Amino acid sequence: MSKPLPLARLGVIGGGQLARMLAPACNAHQVQMTVLDPIHDSPAGQVAYGQIRGALHDPDALKTLCEQSDIVTFDLENVGADILMTLANQRVEIIPAPATIRLIQNKFEQKCHYKASGIPTADFINIGDYPDFAAVQAFGLPCVQKAHTGGYDGRGVHIIRSSDDWDRRLKTTSFLEKFVSGETELAVMVVRRASGEIVAYDPVEMVVDPTLNLLDYLVAPARVSDALKLSAQELAKRTVESFGTSGLFGVELFVTDHGDLLVNEVAPRAHNSGHHTIEACTTSQFENQLRACLDLPLGSTELRDIALTANLIGAPGFAGSPVIEGLDELLQIPDVHMHLYGKEECRPGRKMGHLTFIGQNYDELIKRLESARNSLVIRGDTPQ
Ligand SMILES: Nc1ncnc2c1ncn2[C@@H]1O[C@H](COP(=O)(O)OP(=O)(O)OP(=O)(O)O)[C@@H](O)[C@H]1O
Ligand SMILES: [Mg+2]
Repeated sequence: MSKPLPLARLGVIGGGQLARMLAPACNAHQVQMTVLDPIHDSPAGQVAYGQIRGALHDPDALKTLCEQSDIVTFDLENVGADILMTLANQRVEIIPAPATIRLIQNKFEQKCHYKASGIPTADFINIGDYPDFAAVQAFGLPCVQKAHTGGYDGRGVHIIRSSDDWDRRLKTTSFLEKFVSGETELAVMVVRRASGEIVAYDPVEMVVDPTLNLLDYLVAPARVSDALKLSAQELAKRTVESFGTSGLFGVELFVTDHGDLLVNEVAPRAHNSGHHTIEACTTSQFENQLRACLDLPLGSTELRDIALTANLIGAPGFAGSPVIEGLDELLQIPDVHMHLYGKEECRPGRKMGHLTFIGQNYDELIKRLESARNSLVIRGDTPQ
């Protein structure tokens, strides 16, 4: 069947690093990608066919993007989902469906959906706006307080082990979740297209720095048994199917002390646990995201080698225009791949890019990451 070129006009809500990394797949397929973002020359706006400048909740800006696109997808989920639900009924296709985006935006509703769909997830209770410590004690310590909406990068998550922790609780509408004491956290990227075809990538292990309680690095494939890997892929696919829509999803899972899997949460978009797929897999998460949006056959998710990915974070003590040091040393490391996100300002702790290392041996890749961290610094140009 012949198809006119360009293949499609793809609108992306949000012009961050995820949309920036989608651009090469769009260009290769002659798809015109336009992003919506409030920031002039956003990371994706720098490399896209076009950018509309506007807020991600602004009805007019969202309408303009929809009018200029055949298909619309997401770089992040914190967007005006209600407006999109109305727009989705008019000519434009929005993938994943805005109703799924709205469900996922609210972590409490997301959890209720898993419970209702028979998807294993840690037990939880709602505490709403006026929590009482007696209710927390009755639920059991330790537990985790989570904001219904607006949390990301751990900001809407607070672990409660004592009444002191409770005094420092999140002052927002929240629920409590049982603390999962397993050591291992996995993520599985899943892609589904409208025809129903669904594929999963190899599970990735998210390694958390125990002192900072922040993601340290990710390795693929996860260092767990083949049986557990398969169960994780099956559960991740079942979770995505429960939404009844198409697109690319990152499914975060806990492995309990008993070796059971629990769904933590789902990101309805590209995810950092899929960044290694750019170099390490037959088809990157971004190319498969595009194929899902266009309802084209999905590409193989085969992982060719072991991969390790770590974020490049703005160094402490500096802010301002980004400066990078140690590039010569970094690029002498074998099979290292650097991705910079084009952010105009570097602040301490800000995600400025990522590194992926490819090889055949986990320990060797961890050594390469250590030597990269010893040489490479990304920081603002002005001491704070
Ligand atoms: N019930 C739990 N038991 C133990 N640890 C938990 C629990 N819930 C969350 N955590 C820890 O907190 C981290 C962040 O939680 P979660 O993924 O729910 O929040 P988030 O703000 O969406 O984070 P991110 O954007 O990093 O994915 C988890 O990766 C995990 O390490
Ligand atoms: Mg998470």
